[in-house]
Amino acid sequence: MRVIVESDSETVARSAAVFVAALVRKKPTCVLGLATGGTPLGLYRELIRLHREEGLDFSRVTSFNLDEYVGLPPTHPQSYRYFMKSNFFDHINIDQRNTHVPDGRAEDFEEHAEEYERRIKEEGGIDLQVLGIGSDGHIAFNEPGSSLGSRTRLKTLTSETVRDNARFFDKPEEVPRLALTMGVGTILESRRCLLLACGKHKAEAIRATIEGPVTAQITASALQLHRDVVAVVDEEAATNLWRRDYYREVEQAQQALQSGKFKFLGQ
Ligand code: GLP
Repeated sequence: MRVIVESDSETVARSAAVFVAALVRKKPTCVLGLATGGTPLGLYRELIRLHREEGLDFSRVTSFNLDEYVGLPPTHPQSYRYFMKSNFFDHINIDQRNTHVPDGRAEDFEEHAEEYERRIKEEGGIDLQVLGIGSDGHIAFNEPGSSLGSRTRLKTLTSETVRDNARFFDKPEEVPRLALTMGVGTILESRRCLLLACGKHKAEAIRATIEGPVTAQITASALQLHRDVVAVVDEEAATNLWRRDYYREVEQAQQALQSGKFKFLGQ
């Protein structure tokens, strides 16, 4: 796993946007996997800026979101469809018919989940999946104990997640207890994963994800099995990482290599 430690959430957003923008430029028909929550907001703001100021073109991009609350209509301000529309889609030139968010009001959740998986395959799979992380180490809504091979399905939220997400709702009782979410197995099939984390409250989840054992109790740790994960975290989220000095050295060596400053012995 490549680990990039940035000073704060602003630089995390800019650094993450470089990866997304490079892909969109290289492959204008790419398939993006998108996430909600407070963490990717800075990334979306930066991508909107790149669209407005540098003409970053999303017109042929397709997107699939990780998850959605069960029971909320797309017009509900706390639904993830609404979040994506108001924080990202409405501000870029993506064709909104090509944006997919699971339907939290589907009549048959099992059938809808299968259809969601099928749609991802039909589009050729996800090129880059943006991920945040829950304070209990979950990705999407794959709560502790989720199978590491799981596919899109219904999931019951833990009380920790309900508590964490209550800040977005008027009353804690309004937070839905169920969500439709891509599975860990679905996420692992993306060609690249971009994991973002900011703040001290994510430090333990990030340590367990990057340096702990692979375990269904921290579903993000399954990313250790993926061949191309880039974790971009801020100093606070990196606090508990034992090998942070090494991660920095790797980035410095990469930069030296790219800028031609790397010296071969004997030259
Ligand atoms: C929810 C979402 C996750 C997200 C997590 C953290 O549980 N389903 O995809 O990563 O919240 O959110 P935040 O970035 O607000 O801390």
